[in-house]
Amino acid sequence: MPEPALAVPVIHEVNPWVALAYLVAGVFFILALRGLSSPSTSRQGNRFGMAGMAIAVFTTMLLKAPVPEGQFLPEPTAADLATLVQILIAIAIGGGIGFVVARRIQMTAMPQLVAAFHSLVGLAAVLVGLAAWLNPGAFDIVDTAGQILVTSRIEMALGIAIGAITFSGSVIAFLKLNGSMSGSPIMLPGRHVINLGVLAAIIVLVAAYALSGAGGPGEGLLIVWITLLAFIIGFLLIIPIGGADMPVVVSMLNSYSGWAAAAMGFTLHNTAMIITGALVGASGAILSYIMCRAMNRSFISVIAGGFGADAGDAGPGVAKTDRPWKRGSAEDAAYLMKEAETVIIIPGYGMAVAQAQHVLREMGDQLKEHGVSVKYAIHPVAGRMPGHMNVLLAEANVPYDEVFELEDINSEFAQADVAFIIGANDVVNPAAKTDKSSPIYGMPVFDVDKAKQVFFIKRSMGGVGYAGVDNDVFYMDQTMMLLSDAKKMVEEINKALAD
Ligand code: TAP
Repeated sequence: MPEPALAVPVIHEVNPWVALAYLVAGVFFILALRGLSSPSTSRQGNRFGMAGMAIAVFTTMLLKAPVPEGQFLPEPTAADLATLVQILIAIAIGGGIGFVVARRIQMTAMPQLVAAFHSLVGLAAVLVGLAAWLNPGAFDIVDTAGQILVTSRIEMALGIAIGAITFSGSVIAFLKLNGSMSGSPIMLPGRHVINLGVLAAIIVLVAAYALSGAGGPGEGLLIVWITLLAFIIGFLLIIPIGGADMPVVVSMLNSYSGWAAAAMGFTLHNTAMIITGALVGASGAILSYIMCRAMNRSFISVIAGGFGADAGDAGPGVAKTDRPWKRGSAEDAAYLMKEAETVIIIPGYGMAVAQAQHVLREMGDQLKEHGVSVKYAIHPVAGRMPGHMNVLLAEANVPYDEVFELEDINSEFAQADVAFIIGANDVVNPAAKTDKSSPIYGMPVFDVDKAKQVFFIKRSMGGVGYAGVDNDVFYMDQTMMLLSDAKKMVEEINKALAD
């Protein structure tokens, strides 16, 4: 009787030049992250990122999987390996689409685009995992007995699961940010129990798949169920998160997409992918934590999918315009700001919609010529993506030393002559401090109510902010509403300042 073949794990030798190239790419990625941590160095950071990615992609394209001596791996057939031409065609198609989309996209639609790109990373991880499962020989993950290695099974199953969660979660985030689906939280009864049950089922199925031996239809069913349940849990985790908490979702899905890529890096034995995935995963997790702190939300509650979100059940509302409020004009604003000693400008999403950053900088310059101290106050969740306002102000060449974060400037409103709110709303809403039933309750907001004079630019009294709640600042004695498109209003103020 023939001896049964002994399962010997494959040792993957790494070409030292490939390892060096991946190390250099990894260093470039770390420099990119460092550069992106400040607006003044962010362009350089982007260049480092592009250089690192170019090195990683070209090295991978030149790479041939080494077959260790003494091993009897099944020789890959022509059908197993894509040719270089096929890879270049795929890169040209994907790169071409990405190039056109990135050039055409409006800055205000950037968050949806980011969510859509995250979904593609997740889907890629699922597809690579499924390809590795269907053709393990081509991926070098079989032992000498032709079985997929246990470690590779775990990596593959986790990669597929995280990828599928990232995909369906990002699709929901895209639909919510794009306005194609209501931004209000959708609370299923017993959702925590359902979520925990589905997560537990995925873990059990991954363990069963890792331990399953011989292959066959049972094994295929396990992979199919892992994929399906992971798609479902991604959907379930994101639908209860609504309104003002979306910033955390965007950064959290960014983190998930990194971990999905890292898991696939293990399956493909690609160190560059593991390093990049881990960097994206870890930086996304840190950003989510920072966002949670900014929103005064618990990190665990958000990643667990709407835990504690019950205070935010209120859907979009409308401003109660029956209360008395004062309307101002561009001339009023110009006159009062010229006389002021300190003006603090609070930009928000509406500034991005109106693309008013350039005229706003001109207004700041004019005020400075009149001897006014001008500062810009940025809330961490102002706009629709992390750093949204910083990017726009940097684009308009607003000096970095005039831009302040919430915690550095909030105490200055009590001494400020003017708080100039341009297209911001939720981030200046005092309901976050006082109204426990408000969806933004607990989020730190600018104390604009302490400034001597408030100018509030928005298009109409009926419009509300992202969280859909009325704002008491509209009705304060010291508030003048400047109802107009933000760019048009600031252009008129600039004209009045120049006269
Ligand atoms: P919002 O609360 O969304 O308020 C935007 C304001 O801009 C509204 O008052 C709107 O009123 C006005 N507006 C819109 N277009 C305008 C235009 N062309 N000219 C003048 N005004 C215009 O903005 P915010 O204070 O920046 O708050 C951000 C909100 O978005 C937070 O709730 C945050 O949680 C959420 N969010 C943030 C992110 C990230 S990562 N930053 C991601 C998703 C969601 P009118 O319609 O009356 O003009």
